[in-house]
Amino acid sequence: MHSVVGKVFILLVVILAAFLWIGNAVTNLTGGEKTAGGPVDISPEGGETIFWGKGRCFTCHSIGDKGSAVRCPNLGQFGEKFPLPIGQRAVERAHAREKATGLPYTATDYLTESLANPSAYVVDGYKNEMAIVYAPPISLSLGEIKAVISYLQSQGGDVDINIIKNPSEIAKKFYDRIAAASAAGGGDPGNGEKVFFEGLNCAGCHTLKGKGKALGPDLSAIGLKGVKPISEAILQPAASFTPGYETYTVIGKDGKEKFDNDGRKISGVKISEDAESVEIGINADVKARVLKSEMKELVMDKNKSVMPEDLIEAMTVKDYQDILAFLLLQKGEAK
Ligand code: HEC
Ligand code: HEC
Repeated sequence: MHSVVGKVFILLVVILAAFLWIGNAVTNLTGGEKTAGGPVDISPEGGETIFWGKGRCFTCHSIGDKGSAVRCPNLGQFGEKFPLPIGQRAVERAHAREKATGLPYTATDYLTESLANPSAYVVDGYKNEMAIVYAPPISLSLGEIKAVISYLQSQGGDVDINIIKNPSEIAKKFYDRIAAASAAGGGDPGNGEKVFFEGLNCAGCHTLKGKGKALGPDLSAIGLKGVKPISEAILQPAASFTPGYETYTVIGKDGKEKFDNDGRKISGVKISEDAESVEIGINADVKARVLKSEMKELVMDKNKSVMPEDLIEAMTVKDYQDILAFLLLQKGEAK
């Protein structure tokens, strides 16, 4: 059984590597040249190379009459629709974000948000179709994104490298998001959150920031563990157990495993225990209470976690990367 899991793991790593490689190759083929060398300067010039090269911004955005893309907002001053270039427009957008969130936004916070979490504010008249530029195939690094921000500042706004290097609380959270996504191979944490709560219903067994059910451990601070333990927990749940969430099987007086009325083996997480009985959580929806007078013992099963082993088969490689990126960001207090 373990060798099957091992094979699945290796296969996944291979698929992931191929995926990243193809993403890269496609970007290169379609003109993501220029910045192939070392790290880019955090300056408008550095950002300009990214904008018109690896970042592929030019495939959707023009700046004034530079560029030929028309389907997405022009980032320069252009006609009646765009009276202000993005450096100045960002000041207005920041006010709008302030009103919507109750947080103090600067123009640079807005520019950072528009790259880190574009769906938070969607420009009127456009669809929520801005690329996640730190995910494959574009995969900009945090440094490259900072360079792009200074280039956007330079479009009619104040260039302030210092505020980019010493970010506000708001911008720092966006930086964390981008860094976590890069560490997870470029996942998109926004989609990861959706997959966690809706798509794969991880929240059927896990609480996170007060939402979800508590059969498995709370994951509000899981990001502190780092990428390797998290990915192992998903790919091979039984390889190691979170203390307190081991699997126990109930053995009856006759020395045999006990089954519930629906024929399910009574095996799972020990939810509670008192002098008379134990309560076992078999899966997300099913619990069983067994009287101690009817059982001989509880035996720990080290080969099987309540967390399903086949979750990975229900995920695309992208889902997996996105979930990892989302979980890496969870560094709050565990509840
Ligand atoms: C696949 C097309 C696409 C790519 C690639 C893309 N964007 Fe966008 N971008 C959009 C769309 C669509 C919007 C408008 C919807 C929204 O606000 O999310 C947008 C909005 C923006 C905004 C907000 C504009 C405003 O008026 O407030 C900024 C800034 C921006 N993009 C910068 C960039 C930069 C920099 C890059 C490259 C690193 C980039 N975009 C790559 C499609 C794209
Ligand atoms: C049927 C219940 C169940 C479901 C569904 C489930 N888990 Fe779990 N999960 C558990 C249990 C129980 C544990 C603790 C035992 C273990 O470590 O295997 C656990 C452990 C974990 C851990 C390790 C926690 C730690 O503290 O180290 C992570 C990470 C995790 N799960 C993520 C996920 C994700 C992501 C999904 C959805 C794709 C998911 N789980 C779905 C029950 C579940």
